[in-house]
Amino acid sequence: MKLIHTISETRNQVLRARLRGWKIGLVPTMGALHDGHMSLVRRAKAECEFVVVSIFVNPTQFGPGEDFDKYPRTLVEDVEKCRISDVDVVFTPSASEMYPEGFNSWVEVKGYLTETLEGEFRPGHFRGVTTVCAKLFNIVQPTCAYFGQKDYQQLKVVQKMVNDLSMPLEIVPCEIVREPDGLAMSSRNSYLSPEERKAAVVLSRALSKARAAVTEGERNAAAVQEIAEGVIRLEPLASIDYVALRDAETLQPIDRIRKPAVLLLAVRIGKTRLIDNAFIPTN
Ligand code: PAJ
Repeated sequence: MKLIHTISETRNQVLRARLRGWKIGLVPTMGALHDGHMSLVRRAKAECEFVVVSIFVNPTQFGPGEDFDKYPRTLVEDVEKCRISDVDVVFTPSASEMYPEGFNSWVEVKGYLTETLEGEFRPGHFRGVTTVCAKLFNIVQPTCAYFGQKDYQQLKVVQKMVNDLSMPLEIVPCEIVREPDGLAMSSRNSYLSPEERKAAVVLSRALSKARAAVTEGERNAAAVQEIAEGVIRLEPLASIDYVALRDAETLQPIDRIRKPAVLLLAVRIGKTRLIDNAFIPTN
């Protein structure tokens, strides 16, 4: 495994693999790797002969007052996890390697998909995500890039960018990995105090209860949202940013579940903002 900090050396390494006719898999991350990230790596390893993991806490996707400075940085452990998983290249650029002085080009998906939900609470967030992803795709030129459904809206935004701009790669969505009690794994879970960690299970409990109601025949979107909200409101440490049942493709609001939908949550537990979601199939 090679640990590489520069764009040019990453390009060199990937080029050799490409000349051998190998499939190239890219797993973009911000580090503090947990089993959710590693499930993407495993999937990439299973499908590609050459796997690149990028670790870059991307400053442009954090807003003022967000957690860029305190975001967990655990590079030594991350590199070790990648080594054990037989990753070929770990690409960890500096901010100045990715955004040298004078950098002034942005890739932005416009419209409702990026304005709603996370876009409303984190203005500019998706512009930072799509810009860094476009740049990573250009550096690595992967056959496939692996994204978690944990960040469902991000996945849809990146798929839209790739589709709109005819980028020559496949985006592979991967299942959400959860702790035994249901909490979706996240680098931000490390911010939670023991008491908050217990309270945080309320997100997945709310999703399960709402999904069970759909399984039992509930089709009214407001009723399904209300079931999830009811569960979260019972937890004193939780405060809701949004609970939204949306069309699974467009993320537009729906009245009734007729097509595949997704129930998306953003909830603050103390000062920590957590997101989670559940896919709601129609049958
Ligand atoms: P990060 O939060 O580090 O997540 C990297 C990838 O891991 C994302 O595709 C995310 O959806 C996935 N992931 C995180 N937790 C997961 C879980 N519990 N189960 C499955 N997958 C999970 O998302 C980002 O970084 C950044 O925005 C990035 C795309 C790297 C651009 O900077």
